[in-house]
Amino acid sequence: MYSETGSQWNVAELEDAAHRHLISPAEELAKLGTSGGRTLFTSADGIYITDSRGRRMIDGPAGMWCTQVGYNCKPIADAIAAQALRICYNSPWYSLNGPSAGLARRIAEFAPGDLNHVFFTTGGSSAVDSALRFMQFFNNVLGRPSKKTIICRIDGYHGSTHLTAACSGRAGNRPNFDLEMDNVTFISAPNRYRHPQGGDEAAFLEFLVAEFEERIESLGPQNIGAFLAEPVLASGGVIVPPKGYHRRFLEICRKHDILYISDEVVTGFGRCGEWFASEPAFDIVPDIITFAKGVTSGYVPLGGFVISDAVLGRISGENAKGSAYTNGYTYSGHPVSCAAALANIEVIEQGGLLAHVREVAPYFQEQLRKLGEIPLVGDVRGIGLLGCVECATDPHSQAATDFDKAVAARIDRLCYENGLIVRPIGSMCVLSPALIIKKEEIDTMISILRESIEKVQAEIRAEGRF
Ligand SMILES: Cc1ncc(COP(=O)(O)O)c(C=O)c1O
Repeated sequence: MYSETGSQWNVAELEDAAHRHLISPAEELAKLGTSGGRTLFTSADGIYITDSRGRRMIDGPAGMWCTQVGYNCKPIADAIAAQALRICYNSPWYSLNGPSAGLARRIAEFAPGDLNHVFFTTGGSSAVDSALRFMQFFNNVLGRPSKKTIICRIDGYHGSTHLTAACSGRAGNRPNFDLEMDNVTFISAPNRYRHPQGGDEAAFLEFLVAEFEERIESLGPQNIGAFLAEPVLASGGVIVPPKGYHRRFLEICRKHDILYISDEVVTGFGRCGEWFASEPAFDIVPDIITFAKGVTSGYVPLGGFVISDAVLGRISGENAKGSAYTNGYTYSGHPVSCAAALANIEVIEQGGLLAHVREVAPYFQEQLRKLGEIPLVGDVRGIGLLGCVECATDPHSQAATDFDKAVAARIDRLCYENGLIVRPIGSMCVLSPALIIKKEEIDTMISILRESIEKVQAEIRAEGRF
C-alpha cells in the first residue's frame, strides 16, 4: 500500500509503529502502547475518507472542521508542489515572499471594515496566541501595563499554547496542566440548553450582558485588555449565541477600550457561507479576527490574524515610540502554505462554494433539527455547515452525565460502521462536512445518524437505562 510513496511498510507495521512511538493529541496514557486505539486513514477524495481496512466513509467533521474544498483537490496539490520547487522557504524576519503578500491582500479584501493588516502564523493556536500577545504589547506601548486581563467563555476553545490553553474554558482540557490564570477570567457560555436562565432567548441575552458588565466593573476596565470569543463556540458544542449577543458585547468593549478578538478559526473560510462570519452573520466588525484551518482547507498548516487599521495605527508610524512587534515564527507566511491558501481561495471562488453553502446549509440545519423529535436527543444546534446533536438520557440533569457521553460514543461507533464519521465530543455528535457536500449526501449523513441514534436508543431502553 505504501510502495507508491517509497515506503515498504505495511498497515500492520505502521499501526505498530504508531502504538510504540507516536504521541497523539489527547493521548489516553493508560492505553499508550496498546493496539486498537486510533484509526489509520490511508486515502481520501471529496467528502469521503478511507481507512486502512478499505472502508470508505463520509467524513462528517471534515477532518477537524477544516477540509473545506474536500480531499484530493488537484489545484491545491499542484500549487503546493509548484511553490515547493520555485522557492520553498524564505526568512520572514528579514525578507518577503510573493504568496504571503498576495494572500495578505486577499484576506484584507475579505475581512470586514478596516481590518487590513495580516500577521501569519502556523495554525490556530499560534494565531490566537499571537493576537493575545499583540494585545499585551499594544497596552504596554500605550503605557497601560495593567490593561491585560482577557475575558473568555466557559466551553470556549482557543488552542494548546500556554496562553491559549489558559483561555480555553473546556473542562476536559485542563486537568494536570499548569495554567497561568492571573490575567484570564471566564464568563458563561452563551448556551441556553440546560442553563437555569436559558428559557427565554431575550432574557438570557440580558443575563449574559449583565454578567459581562459586572465582570468589567468588578475587575476595572483599566485592567481588561481583550474579550476573546468564537462567533460560534465550536469544540465546546456548536453553541450559537442568542441573537444580538456579539453586537451588544462589542458595544460594551468599545465603551471600555477593550479589544474584541473574534476567533474565526472554525467559522472562517466558508463554514458559515462567508469568508468571515463576524460581520455578515453576527453584525460585528471586531478589532482582530483570527483564522486557520479552512484558509488552506487543511492541505498544509497555516493560521494568522487580521487587525484593524484603527488599532494598529495607535501604536505604529509616529505612535510607535521605537517599538517592534517581535512576536513571530520561522514559518510565518510560509510560501508553500500561502500558495496553498491562494489556490484554496481560487477553488472556493471558482466553485461558487460560498453561495453553495448558503444554499445547502438551511437544508442541513432543517434536516438535523428533525432529529430533535427522537426522545434521546436533548438538543440540536447549529449554523451554516456546523451542527450538533446532544444526547440526554436524563432531561432534568443540569449537565451531561457520564452515561450521556457513553451513549454518544456508542452512536458515533455505529455511525462509523454504517459509513459516517462523526466527531465525538462528550455527549454530542458533531458534524461539519466539507463545503462541497450535496443535498443527497446530507440526506445520507442524516439518515445514518438517525438510524444510529434510534438503534442505541432501543438498546438502552432494552437495558432498562432510558
Ligand atoms: C476556535 C478555535 N481556535 C483555535 C484553535 C486551535 O487551532 P490549532 O489546533 O490549529 O492550533 C481551534 C482548534 O480546533 C479552534 O477550534
